[in-house]
Amino acid sequence: MASSDLLSRIDACVATIRQRAPGFAPKVGLILGSGLGAFADSLARRVVIPYAELPDFPRSSVVGHAGQLVLGFHEGALPVITMQGRVHAYEGYQPWQVGFPARVLCRLGIKGLIVTNAAGGINTAFDVGDLMAITDHLNLSGFNPLVGPNDDSIGPRFPDMSHAYDPAFLAMLRDAAAVEQVKLQEGVYVSLSGPSYETPAEIRMLRTLGADAVGMSTVPEVIVAAHMGVKVAGISCITNLAAGLSKQKLSHHEVSETADRVKDVFSRLVTRFLSNLGKSL
Ligand code: HPA
Repeated sequence: MASSDLLSRIDACVATIRQRAPGFAPKVGLILGSGLGAFADSLARRVVIPYAELPDFPRSSVVGHAGQLVLGFHEGALPVITMQGRVHAYEGYQPWQVGFPARVLCRLGIKGLIVTNAAGGINTAFDVGDLMAITDHLNLSGFNPLVGPNDDSIGPRFPDMSHAYDPAFLAMLRDAAAVEQVKLQEGVYVSLSGPSYETPAEIRMLRTLGADAVGMSTVPEVIVAAHMGVKVAGISCITNLAAGLSKQKLSHHEVSETADRVKDVFSRLVTRFLSNLGKSL
């Protein structure tokens, strides 16, 4: 695909969204991972747009991912655009397609992107149900959404990733957790391609490499946001202990169940964070 094609495809989605929600100018984007979609229900004056109605917008086949944009106002004031569900490379999408939705959000003019996911806990200090602020990541997925021709009008060929997770946003997440008395771990998220879960040997390797939590998403969106100059905050929900750390077999059922159990605490953290973020934007 030519680089100018990418921009016109992004802009076609932006135009559709603007038609459906005239005058709506989101300040924050929020990508809600497995089982964490319920937060979007708290927004006021919602407009819902199924991904199927957006040109080129990839659709998720994963259970627990609704597959729609929800636009609305947080606490009646802050315009927010949320994605209920995302796609992954393991579903068969090309790298650029996996990054495409985050590009659309960034192109709409958001000032901050909050990425969330379900992840397996590698750090032995983590418990199932913990939330983890992502401080940095390891991209071991084997792909990068920026591969292909670069459109310099979107972003640079070689974007800096030194502060991929914005330090000021991270500090605001810590503050929000303290105020809400939510236990918030911190750590490095490693992304693998999946869709098989890891082996215990892989988890030992990943720990040695400096990873605290493992998943199959998020990194492409963060890379795209860095490319487009949008600041990111990341939250993982530790839905299970990574392979080899518990006697239990890993299953998507456990992942969904834990995310569902944690969703109220998660919502409280995100609500407080957004309130503070709204004041600073
Ligand atoms: N591994 C990879 N991805 C995951 C996990 C895991 O243990 N839990 C939730 N997503």
